[in-house]
This record gives sequence, C-alpha cells and structure tokens, in this order.
Amino acid sequence: VLMTGKELLLDAQKNKYAVGAFNVNNMEVIQAIIGAAEETNSPVILQASQGGLKYAGVEYIATLGKLAASMTKVPVALHLDHGTDFDQVMQCIRHGFTSVMIDGSRFPLEENIAFTKKVVEIAHMVGVTVEAELGKIGGTEDHITVSEKDATFTDPQEAKRFVEETGVDYLAIAVGTAHGVYKGVPKLDYDRITAIRNIIDIPLVLHGSSGVPYESLKKAISLGICKINIDTDIRASFAKTVKEYIEKNPDQIDPRKILGPATEAMKETIKEKMEVFGSTNRA
Ligand code: G3H
Ligand code: 13P
Ligand code: ZN
Ligand code: NA
Repeated sequence: VLMTGKELLLDAQKNKYAVGAFNVNNMEVIQAIIGAAEETNSPVILQASQGGLKYAGVEYIATLGKLAASMTKVPVALHLDHGTDFDQVMQCIRHGFTSVMIDGSRFPLEENIAFTKKVVEIAHMVGVTVEAELGKIGGTEDHITVSEKDATFTDPQEAKRFVEETGVDYLAIAVGTAHGVYKGVPKLDYDRITAIRNIIDIPLVLHGSSGVPYESLKKAISLGICKINIDTDIRASFAKTVKEYIEKNPDQIDPRKILGPATEAMKETIKEKMEVFGSTNRA
C-alpha cells in the first residue's frame, strides 16, 4: 500500500529501526525489492534517482512503483532520490510520488535553505513529504562526484537552523559515508549523529550505505538513523549473477532466463539488509 515517506519514517523513529530505501531503474529491481519486503514483512521505500528517471522515464517508474505498492499489503513510499531540479521535483509529484528529496547540498547554506523551503511549501500542499541534504556526502551519483576533500560533514547547529527554517520532514546528513564502492572501510562519526539527534527531532537519513559494515549501520540506527539508502550492493549482486549465468549458459538468449536469477539474487541481498535494519515484521 502506498504511503508517504514521513508515515514510514515516523514509525521507524518511534520504534528504533530503519526503513531501507532502495534505488530502482526497471521492473526486475522493483519486483526484487517488493518481494523482499513481502517475505520479511517490512515497510520499504522505492527510490528513483535522476539517472534512473532518465533511463526508464518518469511515467514508467511512477506507474510500476504505484502498481507494485497497490498490489502489496506492506507500506511502500515512492521517492525521488537526489532531486536537484525544481521542475523535475514537480513532475515527480504530478506523477504520484509520495516523497521527494531536494538536494541543495551544492549550494551555500542560505541558498540551500531558500531552495529547499520552496519545494517543501509546494510538496506539503499536496501531501508529499520531503527529504533534504545538509553537508556534502562523498562519492559519485549521476556523474556528480564529490571528492574526499570536498565532502563536508554536517554541522549540528546548521542542521537545527536548516530544519527550523525549511520545514523539511527528514534530513540526509554527511557523517562519513560515500556513494559507490569504498576503497577502505568507512568510519562513521557517531558523535556527530548523536549531536545532531540531540538538537533536531526529525528522522535522519544515511546515504551511501552499501559497503558499510553491518555493525556500524546498527549503531547508527541506535543513534537515530531511520532511512538507509542502498544502491551499489544491489547493482553488484545483479551484475555478478548475470555474468555467472552467461558464463555458464553462453547460448542462452531468453531475457527471462538471464534476468530471473538476478532478480532472485537482488531479492536475497535486500532481505539481508532488511534484517540488519530491523524493519522486518514492522509492516
Ligand atoms: O544516489 C546515488 C545512487 O547510487 C544513484 O546513482 O545517479 O547513478 O542512478 P545514479
Ligand atoms: P550506495 O550506492 O553507496 O548504496 O548509495 C546509495 C544512495 O545513497 C542513494 O541515494
Ligand atoms: Zn544518496
Ligand atoms: Na557506498
């Protein structure tokens, strides 16, 4: 059943677990995510990045996402990931997304506040809830690369002001994670999560969570992280399974035969995450 991001995340906040937000580009990954959510009885967020929307088209993603949500009992939010463009946010809202991220993290604080506030005002008028980002999360998404030296951790006092002035519903914070594959083992700044948690009361979001040790994710959840974004680990299980299948079955030409095992593999990866996040049996 389709719900807003805020409805899912407030329950997570109250009950100290995190909802997984998994990136979608096509039917197979949507089926894998919904299958995992049903098998573990988990609420879940389907999120599409700008790259994902460009690939599949907003109509396809919105229609598939809403269909999947309408066919299942588990709570599902349909979310725009890292929206940077006002017009595209409006398009997603028009197509029935129940949650949008407006990522103004490239702007100086004042501009990020003004940009985010404008989106929040409009989204709230039509019952859509909003995520924003403060601080800069490292790594690459959609060809935007934030190098390690440009990544800046979220300042707790700025976060307080940002939340008060924008009215945003949940906040992505930069505390040591990065998009994509890690070179070493990422170290999270737990004190910073705690400092932010102590002065703002909306749900907090962790990006770049593929490759973060499970113990670190569990600790982050215990300190107030309520939404955990995963893309890279799903891509990796997709690619590994397709490659293995084709190596073993070089004459196979049927997309269903090639993609079926990959869908199963993605589902297993997602179920493992849901166990770690504690979202199982919370639907
Ligand atoms: O936020 C980052 C996600 O991994 C999306 O990546 O922009 O390549 O679709 P993408
Ligand atoms: P990963 O690809 O590192 O899992 O990050 C996903 C993300 O943050 C999407 O917004
Ligand atoms: Zn992200
Ligand atoms: Na990552």
